[in-house]
Amino acid sequence: MNFALLSAAAAATGHSATPAWAMLAYLASGVLFILALRGLSSPGTSRAGNRHGMIGMAIAVVTTLVVHPPMTTELLKCGGCVPDPQVLDRLGLAEILAAIAIGGGIGWVIARRIKMTDMPQLVAAFHSLVGLAAVLVGWAAYLNPEAFGIVGPDGMIHGASKIEMALGIAIGAITFSGSVIAFLKLAGKMSGAPILLPARHAINLVLLLAIAFFTFGFWHSQSLVDIALLTALSFLIGFLLIIPIGGADMPVVVSMLNSYSGWAAAAMGFTLHNTAMIITGALVGSSGAILSYIMCKAMNRGFLSVIAGGFGAEASAAGGAAKEQRPWKRGSAEDAAYMLGEAEKVIIIPGYGMAVSQAQHALREMADLLKEKGVEVKYAIHPVAGRMPGHMNVLLAEAQVPYDEVFELEDINSEFATADVAFIIGANDVVNPAAKTDKSSPIYGMPVFDVDKAKQVFFIKRSMGGVGYAGVDNDVFYMDQTMMLLADAKKMVEDINKALAH
Ligand code: TAP
Repeated sequence: MNFALLSAAAAATGHSATPAWAMLAYLASGVLFILALRGLSSPGTSRAGNRHGMIGMAIAVVTTLVVHPPMTTELLKCGGCVPDPQVLDRLGLAEILAAIAIGGGIGWVIARRIKMTDMPQLVAAFHSLVGLAAVLVGWAAYLNPEAFGIVGPDGMIHGASKIEMALGIAIGAITFSGSVIAFLKLAGKMSGAPILLPARHAINLVLLLAIAFFTFGFWHSQSLVDIALLTALSFLIGFLLIIPIGGADMPVVVSMLNSYSGWAAAAMGFTLHNTAMIITGALVGSSGAILSYIMCKAMNRGFLSVIAGGFGAEASAAGGAAKEQRPWKRGSAEDAAYMLGEAEKVIIIPGYGMAVSQAQHALREMADLLKEKGVEVKYAIHPVAGRMPGHMNVLLAEAQVPYDEVFELEDINSEFATADVAFIIGANDVVNPAAKTDKSSPIYGMPVFDVDKAKQVFFIKRSMGGVGYAGVDNDVFYMDQTMMLLADAKKMVEDINKALAH
């Protein structure tokens, strides 16, 4: 959203050589964005990180508006003079302020109303806007290159600018259509199951070559047909890259699209000669790429195969095994409270269902009650638990769970063998042993918690019918040491707390 505003402001006002003070202001906003990323890496510093990001963006937008004053301001400044035609091309201050007010207003309303569980699809929707903004700025620069100062003495757009525009439009279009599909899948408005076209890798390769061909054609001839075809094919390939992805692989896709949106903004920053956009786009692009890489490692997926699209798709297509009718044990809050009270060590595995029921506060109270009884309590966080990176960490931080009780998968997985209770609350895929044993499962290869090694497993979910995000049955339900606690997570934990307190 911010990038879209920045692009629109810069595009609307055109550009000229950037004065030194403005370069310094852009540098300051770049430093603030780096501080924002640093702050956002931990729940304790995330508010400060957010503030740094907002101040950095405000500096960048104001600097852009001062360096390229709106048409009305320029006309007032020069009195009755006949303005430069480029100035007349610019938007007036009222139009720019109206655009900021409309965009900011919509963002404000969404931020107030959005539920925590809907954040992933909102993030995907925002990425799509960044991609679309890059496409529109690229087209604006093509249709009115004089306003962007990118025309050479021969009357043609500079060669380098054409490459930047083509790259920005291509990456932006891929980001847009890919993010729209990711939004539809995450919001449940489209089936999360992979859609596999025959020979899709060959189709993608041909499309990529065609995009490269039309980029060359555009650079060579600057023709409308080339830029139109490269835009259309980029929209198409973005769509084709994301439809085959299903099951549990969406987190990687979301962070990958985040990275693409950054690169699209950076490419447009070159076209607009806007240093702040180049720095910010590169920061978003590289941090998104690093996050994608970390996610790939967490999910045991190949980074290059993710970029190529449709990774793990063969497995996903074959997955989704039918549920078996096997015996399982049901317990009550009182049973669970009794066994928890007798335990020496309890490891809690929160997942998406905890976020849905907002059970984090009740869970912390349960941990406090157990600690009073001398039980050791730890929290195990899977890198893709929930629906967005760091989802569980944010919720636990909100409930003031001490950070030193929260452990990453690789740091705690070996401890299940010494745990009396693995307490699974609203998690499912991240504890599913099919990831280790069933090659046809969509989650095969993803590291999961070894909850089967714990002496006792408590599994909180609402019904035996509900599956996890990947849509597959879970052997943990049917293990001898598993007790299913079927209820809304918050209600169940509150009942356990009542029983523990007595
Ligand atoms: P999931 O596998 O999605 O399982 C959620 C569980 O919560 C289900 O068993 C569901 O069963 C239960 N549940 C839902 N609402 C509940 C409620 N109110 N009370 C109690 N239980 C409730 O969760 P997970 O283990 O956290 O795994 C995350 C999955 O999402 C992975 O496959 C991951 O790849 C994917 N994903 C992650 C992200 C990121 S970045 N974290 C983004 C997109 C997708 P019932 O319906 O029976 O209650």
